[in-house]
Amino acid sequence: MRCVCFVPKTTDEDDDPVYQKGANSSHSFAQSVGSIGPRSMHSSIGGYSYSSQDLQAKPPGAETFTMVELAHATANFSPQNKIGQGGFGTVYKGRLRDGRMVAIKRGKKDAYEQRLSVEFRTEVETLSQVDHLNLVKLIGYTEEGSERILVVEFVSNGNLGEHLDGTYGKVLDMSTRLDISIDIAHALTYLHLYADRPIIHRDIKSSNILLTTTYRAKVADFGFSRVGPSTDVGATHVSTQVKGTAGYLDPEYLNTYQLNTKSDVYSFGILLVEIFTGRRPIELNRPSDERVTVRWAFRKFVEGNIIDILDPKLERSPAAVSVIQRLAELAFACSAPTKGDRPSMKKAAEVLWEIRKDYLAEHQKEERIKAERSESIRMESARSDMSADSQVSLHQTSNRRRPSWIQ
Ligand SMILES: Nc1ncnc2c1ncn2[C@@H]1O[C@H](COP(=O)(O)OP(=O)(O)OP(=O)(O)O)[C@@H](O)[C@H]1O
Ligand SMILES: [Mg+2]
Repeated sequence: MRCVCFVPKTTDEDDDPVYQKGANSSHSFAQSVGSIGPRSMHSSIGGYSYSSQDLQAKPPGAETFTMVELAHATANFSPQNKIGQGGFGTVYKGRLRDGRMVAIKRGKKDAYEQRLSVEFRTEVETLSQVDHLNLVKLIGYTEEGSERILVVEFVSNGNLGEHLDGTYGKVLDMSTRLDISIDIAHALTYLHLYADRPIIHRDIKSSNILLTTTYRAKVADFGFSRVGPSTDVGATHVSTQVKGTAGYLDPEYLNTYQLNTKSDVYSFGILLVEIFTGRRPIELNRPSDERVTVRWAFRKFVEGNIIDILDPKLERSPAAVSVIQRLAELAFACSAPTKGDRPSMKKAAEVLWEIRKDYLAEHQKEERIKAERSESIRMESARSDMSADSQVSLHQTSNRRRPSWIQ
């Protein structure tokens, strides 16, 4: 759930008209969205003043779909194809006529249409301009009447939050968690550095990290993204209305309305704590001194009990114990109260990479020792089996050799 303080509460859509072949073709986004090359895109994405002069053509690389096509792809938005529900609307799994599997995000139709419209256009524009293995790819969109629908790459293995909660049964092991953290750090480094004006995601959280079947992470949900300050002219931040999710929100941005890439770094720090503790950033059913996970973890760190924060579902191997201290240091640096104390995303990715390298070396050593130990146990038991066998055969042989008169 996004922070209710910053995003007006919305109601669920309740009536889905049945779309029939040939019906109601578009007014597409193309008619209202302006021509945007990479340069002009940077001056418009995530802004709040979309007008028909600003936006008049379809973003490059994005296909347009009709409602009929999307209704067909989702069996008329059947509840059986529903895969998620968020602030923007409902997400369905779908198959396009050419066989591609897609996720179809259908915006709510409600009183806050203007806000959702901005979110929709922001996501279309941002995603159509970026391309990275660790970012969800935009395929296309529909804007017909009150319908606003995004069509994005389908990422088939659920979101990170669900995996941490154990929804799928399998526990993510330490090296998978490190790989996922690095994927997210790479995606954010790319967004922050790929152009002269950075893209700030503004909603980094576990439900916006999607996983593939091989546990590669893809950052999704660009509805709140926003162009950052132009650093080449010395700007340090952009001033803007606060958006994001409670628990992950940079407190400095919250207080000053000044946004820069370090706000994503803050959310990333909170997410790192979540990845290695298995606890959500805010857990209201915990004792009062444990409700804010980052504060609880930091207290453990100061008390010298950092191992206590490790997700109880993770094996407490010496390799895991040896990295948790460094992971915690990185997470706390990223979630420092003031921006100046936080590393850049690039630096955080480099540190994580080092941690992963050392973890794997230590882990492999442990696995080798374990394998050698079980091999020597196997040999030992084979040896004692053999000697037991030889005793038996000796016994049998000696029996055979016994003179018959002994019996
Ligand atoms: N491209 C996708 N592929 C597969 N599943 C997806 C995709 N996009 C979203 N989902 C699923 O749908 C869920 C809802 O997504 P959505 O981003 O709308 O909401 P959310 O992240 O749960 O909440 P919020 O609106 O606060 O961001 C996601 O958590 C995810 O499980
Ligand atoms: Mg989301």
